[in-house]
Order: sequence, then structure tokens, then C-alpha cells
Amino acid sequence: MEYYFKGDGKYLTFPWDKSSDVDSVEKYYDEIEFSDWKHGLSRAPMIKAQHPDFEIFKMGIHGQRGLACADCHMPYRSEGGVKYSDHHIQSPLNNIANTCQVCHRESEETLRNNVYERQKKVYFIRDKAEQMLVKAHIEAKAAWDAGAAEDEMKEVLKLIRHAQWRWDYAAAGHGNAFHAPLETMRMLGTSMEKSQEARLILSRILNKYGIKNPIIYPDISTKAKAQKYIGLDIDKLKAEKLEFVKTILPEWDKKAKERESKYTNKILNN
Ligand code: HEC
Ligand code: HEC
Repeated sequence: MEYYFKGDGKYLTFPWDKSSDVDSVEKYYDEIEFSDWKHGLSRAPMIKAQHPDFEIFKMGIHGQRGLACADCHMPYRSEGGVKYSDHHIQSPLNNIANTCQVCHRESEETLRNNVYERQKKVYFIRDKAEQMLVKAHIEAKAAWDAGAAEDEMKEVLKLIRHAQWRWDYAAAGHGNAFHAPLETMRMLGTSMEKSQEARLILSRILNKYGIKNPIIYPDISTKAKAQKYIGLDIDKLKAEKLEFVKTILPEWDKKAKERESKYTNKILNN
């Protein structure tokens, strides 16, 4: 779900003043000149998408036909003649008989393949968009290193901001590839378009500053290599996470149990 914390009061704000498609939210953030962080390589002012599953789902065929998340993610179980939904959120593919086949007559295999086919095609394009974006960031860094000026880079940084935002909006909603493959492909397509535009301007800038050698792109074929390249201290992050798990999480669990017991008592007493 797309949200951020606005102002000193830190009110949780959903950027839905306009609409929740990728272009409108991007426009909204541009107008208020909001950014989550400045990219370490390109120095582009970035925005981070926070699991926009709901927004994208609404743009797919199932969303348009009025389905709810629970139709697929909380299959009904029948026990003692009473139907109740299984509140453990899970992949619908674990229980096709009680999800997809409530509405579709095709075999489990066909329905499963419908999902896999969409995912495979979307992920293929997502990876292409990602590769172009990485190159744009690296070329922007090369341009800065060569002495490019702020005003020359302004348009490039905006294009990179938009390219990554679109890639992120498509990639961060983990269900997008099935929920709305067409919209997801559209976002990835425009991400590629923006990366490509950025790289075209960058090639002119690099040329102007006499960078004639082809840029050596780092080996980021694995997560570990990529993290090393961008200077992420994984050991430090792991230690922090461990500390969090040991100290903060038990507190949260305790509070949640207290809340739940109140809630359960209320239901039982009614
Ligand atoms: C028509 C069925 C259907 C509906 C309705 C639906 N989803 Fe999904 N969703 C799927 C399928 C299929 C997958 C892919 C599952 C897989 O790859 O195993 C998925 C994947 C996901 C994932 C990724 C899970 C993961 O572990 O990667 C999330 C999150 C998700 N859906 C959230 C939602 C939300 C939120 C809604 C409602 C706004 C919703 N879904 C509505 C079918 C549906
Ligand atoms: C509550 C009913 C319902 C459930 C549950 C449901 N669907 Fe659908 N599905 C629909 C409707 C309605 C359409 C639109 C078809 C139409 O209107 O003719 C649709 C369309 C589709 C399409 C065609 C979409 C396209 O790209 O054009 C596929 C594929 C599909 N569903 C697969 C699935 C799979 C896989 C699941 C389980 C994960 C699932 N559906 C669960 C009702 C449902």
C-alpha cells in the first residue's frame, strides 16, 4: 500500500489526492518535491513504493469485476455446515479448488499455468527495465565524476527518478504480475522509456566531458556483489536486525497478545 508520513506531526498520508495509478502518484510527489532519499550513485532524488498491491489490483480484470482480496487469498473452509474464511493469508495456488475454481471451470494445471505465464513474462521485462536503470545510475555517476554541472544533470535526474519509481511500483507489489499484468507491463515499459531518455542525454554529457571509453559496468550478478558495489555493510545490518528481533519484537508480541485477548473476550461475551 502506498503511503508516507507527512510533516512534523507525522500523520500517515496516502497520496491519493489525485488517483492511485503510478503517473498520478508520481506527479503528486513531484509537485510537493518529496523524496525518500538521494541515490548514492546518480544523486537522483528518489521515491520508494510501499507495496502498491491494492492500487494495482484494482486496475486488473479481477479488480474491475469487483473481486476482493479474500476471494483468492482467504479461501472459505466449511466446517460443521458453517462457512468461515481461512484467515491465514496464503498463495491461492495452494488451494485452487477453493479459490480460482469457485469461478473458473478450467483444470488446476491450466489455472496455475495462467498465473505462471503472466509472472514469467512480467519478470522478464522487469529484469530488462532493471538493467537499463542500473546503467543509467552508473552513467550518471560517471558524468558527475567527469565534472558535469548541476543544471546539465537536472533533466537526467528527473528521468532516473521516474524510471526507478515506475520499476519499483511494478516490482514492489508482489502480486502485480498476476493481479494486473497489462498495467504492470505498461509501468515497466514507461520505466524503460525514461531510462533510455536519461541515457541518451547522458551520452551527450559524457561525450562533452571527453569520456570516450566505454563505461565498465560492475559485476552485480548476485545480491551480495551488488550490495558490495553500492557499499552496503551487510554484517552491520544483520547485527542490527538481530538486536531488533531480540529486544523489540518480544515487546510487540506481548502487546499484540494483550490486544487480542481483549478482542477475543469481547467476541465470546457477545
Ligand atoms: C483472482 C485472485 C486474486 C485476488 C482477488 C487477489 N489476488 Fe493477490 N495473488 C493472486 C495470485 C494468483 C498470486 C500469486 C501467487 C503465487 O505466486 O504463488 C497473488 C499474489 C499476491 C501477493 C504476493 C504474495 C507473495 O508472497 O509474493 C500479495 C501481497 C497479494 N497477492 C495481495 C493481494 C491483495 C492485497 C489483494 C486485494 C487488493 C489481492 N492480492 C487480490 C491472486 C489474487
Ligand atoms: C470470484 C470469482 C473469481 C475467482 C475466485 C477467480 N476469478 Fe479469474 N476471473 C473472474 C472474472 C469475472 C474474470 C473476467 C472474465 C469475464 O468477465 O468474462 C476472470 C478472468 C480471469 C482470467 C482472464 C484474465 C485476462 O488476462 O484476460 C484468468 C487467466 C483468470 N481469471 C484466472 C484466475 C485464477 C488463476 C484464479 C485463482 C488464483 C482466479 N482467476 C480466481 C472471476 C474469478
